[in-house]
Amino acid sequence: MVVPLSLLFLTVFCGVSAAHNAGLISALGPQGVNLIKLDAQAARWKSAQDASLYGQQQPLTQKYEEFPAQWFEQPLDHFNNETGDTFGQRYWVNKRHYLPGTNAPVIVLDGGETSGEGRIPFLDTGIVEILTRATGGVGVVLEHRYYGETQPVQNLTTDSLRFLTNEQSAADSARFMANVKFEGIDEDLTAPGTPWIYYGGSYAGARAAHMRVLYPDLVFGAIASSAVTHADITNWQYMEVIRRAAPEDCSRHLESSIQTVDAILAHGGLPARALKALFGLAGLEHDDDFASVLSSPLGYWQAKCWDPKFGSNAFDNFCDALSKPPIGALSALEYGDERRMFDVGDGLTLDFSLLNYAKYIRENVVSRCTDPMTVDECFGTYDDSQYIATDLDQDWRLWLFQVCTQWGYFTTAPPDPAHPRILSKLITLEHEAKICAQAFPPGKHFTVPSMPNVTAVNVLGDFDIAMDRLAIIDGEVDPWRPDTPHSEDANDREDTISQPFKLIPNAVHHYDEYGYLNIWEEPVEIQQIHGEMVIFVTEWLKEWNTTRESR
Ligand SMILES: *[C@@H]1O[C@H](CO)[C@@H](O)[C@H](O)[C@H]1NC(C)=O
Ligand SMILES: *[C@@H]1O[C@H](CO)[C@@H](O)[C@H](O)[C@H]1NC(C)=O
Ligand SMILES: *[C@@H]1O[C@H](CO)[C@@H](O)[C@H](O)[C@H]1NC(C)=O
Ligand SMILES: *[C@@H]1O[C@H](CO)[C@@H](O)[C@H](O)[C@H]1NC(C)=O
Repeated sequence: MVVPLSLLFLTVFCGVSAAHNAGLISALGPQGVNLIKLDAQAARWKSAQDASLYGQQQPLTQKYEEFPAQWFEQPLDHFNNETGDTFGQRYWVNKRHYLPGTNAPVIVLDGGETSGEGRIPFLDTGIVEILTRATGGVGVVLEHRYYGETQPVQNLTTDSLRFLTNEQSAADSARFMANVKFEGIDEDLTAPGTPWIYYGGSYAGARAAHMRVLYPDLVFGAIASSAVTHADITNWQYMEVIRRAAPEDCSRHLESSIQTVDAILAHGGLPARALKALFGLAGLEHDDDFASVLSSPLGYWQAKCWDPKFGSNAFDNFCDALSKPPIGALSALEYGDERRMFDVGDGLTLDFSLLNYAKYIRENVVSRCTDPMTVDECFGTYDDSQYIATDLDQDWRLWLFQVCTQWGYFTTAPPDPAHPRILSKLITLEHEAKICAQAFPPGKHFTVPSMPNVTAVNVLGDFDIAMDRLAIIDGEVDPWRPDTPHSEDANDREDTISQPFKLIPNAVHHYDEYGYLNIWEEPVEIQQIHGEMVIFVTEWLKEWNTTRESR
C-alpha cells in the first residue's frame, strides 16, 4: 500500500512506539509488501510516529512496569447498540502523587490516533507527571478505540470501521470518566464528582477541546495542545509553514528545485524521463507519484522535538544535503548563474541543489526499494489491489478512514500557481484523495463519502472554539498551526487563567506534552509553558474547591 502525502499523520511525531513499529513491520510480512513501501509511502504519513525508520532514533525500549495496562468495557455502538458488541478499552494509571481526600483531580491524556503505549512516557516524565505532581492527582493515558490493543472489531473493512467516528470515541471517554474504578483507590474518582482535566495533543488536542464542549459537566477542564479544531478538505498551509520556517537557503533550494521539476515534467518527453532517471525513478510511470516521492523528506519537519530522546534531526540532514556545494561556494551565487549549473546529459542542465536533491532521494528513499520490487510497485498509487488487505495489522487504514470520513487535511500544493511552493503542483486534491475510494469500497452498512464531511468537526467551534477552563496551546512553527486556534485565519484572543491561549516560541508539534522529571533541565520556553500550565490548572482546582464549598 502506497499511502500518499495526504496522510500526514497528525501525532506523536516526536514519539516512537516500539509496538507500533512492530505492527507496521508485521503488516508488511504476509502480503509480501516490502519495507520500502512502508518507508516511502509512510515517509510523510507516519513520519514522526515511525521516526526511527527515517531518523536515527531507536524505538522506546524502556518498560514501564509501574503502569500495567488496565481495561475498561465499552459498547461498540454507544448510540444504537447496533451490533450489541462490547470491547476492552486499554488505559494506564500513574498513582505516584495521588493524595486521597484532597479533591485531587484526574488528569487524563487522550491517546489519539496511535497506540496508547507511545504515550506512556508522558505519564512518567511528561505533562501528566508534571500536572499530577503539582496537584496530587491521578494520571491516566486512555487509548483510543481501534488503535493499539483497543480493538473492537475483527478486521478493518469499511463496515467494520464504521464505528470509528468522533462521536463514538468521545462517548467512550465520557463513559470512562463517569464510571471508571481505579485499582487500589477507594475514593470514588468518577466525574462529575471529581475534577477531570482532559489533555490531548494534535488530533487528541482537538478531542480535548471537543470533550470540554460536548461534556461540560464531566470534563471540568481541558488542555488542547496543537489542537486541530479546524478540519479542512485541503491543507496546503501545512507545507507553507515549513517553507517559511525552514532555514532560508534550504527553502530557496526546495522552491527552485520544485519549480524546475514542474517545468520539466510539464514539458514531458526525454528531459522528463532523464529527470526521473536522475532520481533513480525512471520506472515510475505517473508523474504525480514521482512528485510525491520527492516530497517525502518534508515530513521530517514535524519529527523535530526539543527532547532528543524523541526528536529526529532528519530535516536538518536533508537541508544540509541539498546545500552541499560540489565545488567552491556556489550557494552564494544567484540562481541561474551558469557556475551553479551542471550538464547531466539528455538536454538537462540543472542547478547543483537539484542534483543534491536527486542524490538524497536515490540514497535515502529509492535505495530501500529492492528486488524483486519495481519502483512502480514501491511508489506507485494507481494499483488498487495494493489497498485491499483489511486484517487488523493494516493499521494505516485507521487514521486514513478518519481522514476520508470526517477530517480531510489532504496536503496539496498552494491553490495559486504563482505562490512559491516546495510541493509540486502535481500534488492535487485528486491525487491525494483518490486513496479513499481505493482503500474503502462501499460496505453493506456504510459508504465513505466522496469527500470527508469536515462540518462534523467544525460545528464544534472550529478556530473559535472556546470555553472557560479550556486551554489552547500551540507551537509557533508547527505545520499544523494553520488548523488550530492560533491560525493566521483565526480571531486573536486574550490569554487568561480561565481561557489560556499560549503560543510556544520556536515549537513544532505539542511540545508541552514532553517533559523531564526535573523541569529545570528543560529548554527555557518549555519550562515556561509547564510552569504556566501548573499555575492555571491549580487555579482551576481552587475554583472547584470554592464552588463545592458554596454548594
Ligand atoms: C446491547 O445489545 C446486547 C445484545 O443484544 C445486550 O446484551 C446489551 O444489554 C445491550 N446494551 C444496551 C446498553 O442496551
Ligand atoms: C482543595 O481543597 C482540599 C481540601 O480542603 C485541599 O486539600 C486542596 O489543597 C485544595 N486544592 C486547591 C487547589 O486549593
Ligand atoms: C470482517 O469481520 C466481520 C465480523 O466482524 C465479518 O462478518 C466479515 O466477514 C469480515 N470480513 C472480512 C473481509 O474479513
Ligand atoms: C455532515 O455533518 C454534519 C454535522 O454532523 C451533519 O449535520 C450533516 O448532515 C453532514 N452532512 C452530510 C452530507 O452527511
